[in-house]
Amino acid sequence: MQTKSNREPLLSVKNLEVTYYTRAGEVRAVEDVSLDIFEGEVVGLVGESGCGKSTLGVALLRLVRSPGKITGGQIIFHGQDILKISENEMRELRGAHISMIFQDPMTSLDPLQRIDDHFVESIKAHEKHVSREEAVERAAELFDLLGIARDRLHDYPHQLSGGMRQRVMIGLALALNAELIVADEPTTSLDVLVEAQFLDLLKDLRHKYNMTLILITHNIGIVAELADRVAVMYAGKLVELADVMKLFEEPLHPYTEALLSSVPNIKLDKELKIMEGQPPDLLHPPTGCRFHPRCPYAMDICSQKEPPLVEVEPGRWTACWLHAEKETSQETREGAYA
Ligand SMILES: Nc1ncnc2c1ncn2[C@@H]1O[C@H](COP(=O)(O)OP(=O)(O)OP(=O)(O)O)[C@@H](O)[C@H]1O
Ligand code: SF4
Ligand SMILES: [Mg+2]
Repeated sequence: MQTKSNREPLLSVKNLEVTYYTRAGEVRAVEDVSLDIFEGEVVGLVGESGCGKSTLGVALLRLVRSPGKITGGQIIFHGQDILKISENEMRELRGAHISMIFQDPMTSLDPLQRIDDHFVESIKAHEKHVSREEAVERAAELFDLLGIARDRLHDYPHQLSGGMRQRVMIGLALALNAELIVADEPTTSLDVLVEAQFLDLLKDLRHKYNMTLILITHNIGIVAELADRVAVMYAGKLVELADVMKLFEEPLHPYTEALLSSVPNIKLDKELKIMEGQPPDLLHPPTGCRFHPRCPYAMDICSQKEPPLVEVEPGRWTACWLHAEKETSQETREGAYA
């Protein structure tokens, strides 16, 4: 699904489902999500807090923690369903092929290990023939590219600034030539200036390395700057997927429309509107379309039946009855966030 071109996707998520088994009941944090990622593209993954972005991100590396479990679907990488491979094979895939960068780099860095040792350990874990000297040299060359002085390789993680640590995380992924990087809010902990520098670096590196990146963020501005395509999640579901320019010009899903209308600087010609209401409690999601209690266009069908995710034009997917049933859409759509 979601054909961007005739190319085969690098990663294909099919009907993925992730459930947290809590004392209060089952929380379906990711439900029936299907998404193709193509080599060399940056896909922004957006949506309000709690909609399942991080859960989807960690699921791609099979790192969902208890009480969470992947309860359905497939994740096809190089033609293989990685939900079916052994934990050993998965460990080999992580880092060397699919890497994850978290909001707080300290969660991935060992505070007792110097930065050069992180590179040596990580490179040698996947490429046993590489000597320590070669690994350190590879790290040093990456440091030149990342704009960090080579002598900082001897530092411990706490001696580096937050921005440097996040650069180190990118460096570790690049050292292994990871084919896919999943970055979960990589700039949220950085101040504005350091964030801007980090984004410039990412822009530069993505072309140099033909990086494939899934960028999870609250920040629509970052998506506008970096992403080729955007996937919008709401309450565990994928509700819209489109090329970034098209999505900003004409969001199809009312939730995307509301999301963009509540962000300053994207549409300066429009009045800023704050989205009313809260995302639903995933223990008891609304019936039908999960956005219906907040949707200004909601129709009778919306609370009764769940809208399917359909390709409304090549490469543009949305799950909304306004687009699944075109006749009802035109007159209902006038207004609300216009
Ligand atoms: N360890 C957990 N135990 C129980 N429920 C969880 C757990 N982690 C996440 N959830 C639930 O799963 C849903 C999705 O959470 P997730 O962290 O993936 O959202 P998110 O979109 O990344 O949010 P944010 O933008 O705040 O990071 C939420 O309803 C959350 O309460
Ligand atoms: S399906 Fe209905 S409630 Fe849901 S977004 Fe579309 S119009 Fe709104
Ligand atoms: Mg998150």
